[in-house]
Amino acid sequence: MAAILQTEDLTKSYRIGKIDVPALRGVSLAVERGEFVAIMGPSGCGKSTLLHLLGGLLSPTSGSIVIDGEDISKLSDAKRTEIRRRKIGFVFQRFNLFPTLTAEGNLKLAERIHSGNGGGDAAGRREVLRLLKLEDKMHHKPLEMSGGEQQRVALARAVINSPAIILADEPTGNLDTENSAIVLDMFRKLNKEFSQTIIMITHNPEAAAVCSRTIRMRDGRVDE
Ligand SMILES: Nc1ncnc2c1ncn2[C@@H]1O[C@H](COP(=O)(O)OP(=O)(O)O)[C@@H](O)[C@H]1O
Ligand SMILES: [Mg+2]
Repeated sequence: MAAILQTEDLTKSYRIGKIDVPALRGVSLAVERGEFVAIMGPSGCGKSTLLHLLGGLLSPTSGSIVIDGEDISKLSDAKRTEIRRRKIGFVFQRFNLFPTLTAEGNLKLAERIHSGNGGGDAAGRREVLRLLKLEDKMHHKPLEMSGGEQQRVALARAVINSPAIILADEPTGNLDTENSAIVLDMFRKLNKEFSQTIIMITHNPEAAAVCSRTIRMRDGRVDE
């Protein structure tokens, strides 16, 4: 079976003044369609850098990244952005919701960015919000919701355009135990019931335990 995502000897250095700071030192990995993968490792080992490269938010210093059959490593920023909008759903530790828009408004905005026009329909949005147990929060703004509810809206926004892959950077990092459990349950449901491919960075062993596989990183490399 072809991997939905594959990297080959991926490196990334950040330039600070005249110094190159290596963050990734050669990462080769493959993720199959329908996998739910945890990425773990100490702070500063390159987890976020890797996730941002996989999602096309950054371009690599060297190496290749193939997503759903497309090599994004040598594309222009504009082309990479286009592929990101089509194929990737991001969930961040800070939920990054639009504060002045309701839950449904945040989904509509994501649909508009994805399709370049109106996009989506009310029934589809209601269905996603129902799936994430947010029907009664549809017309609420972020500040009128708990952290767990806000993160579920962020998850709804990530899946509304049926992305090939969801990339999540410490999605439960700002949540208490109860809300973490609810959000993780939703990730697991999306993976099990819809075979949604998910890659999630986490420090939490309980979060990693719901995944089908854990990739461990250290000092810019994947630990064998
Ligand atoms: N924008 C940046 N500019 C310079 N250095 C960065 C930048 N982002 C990350 N780094 C450095 O790259 C390394 C890896 O960072 P990061 O990918 O954020 O690790 P993690 O997510 O595992 O904590 C760290 O040494 C960090 O200081
Ligand atoms: Mg990080």
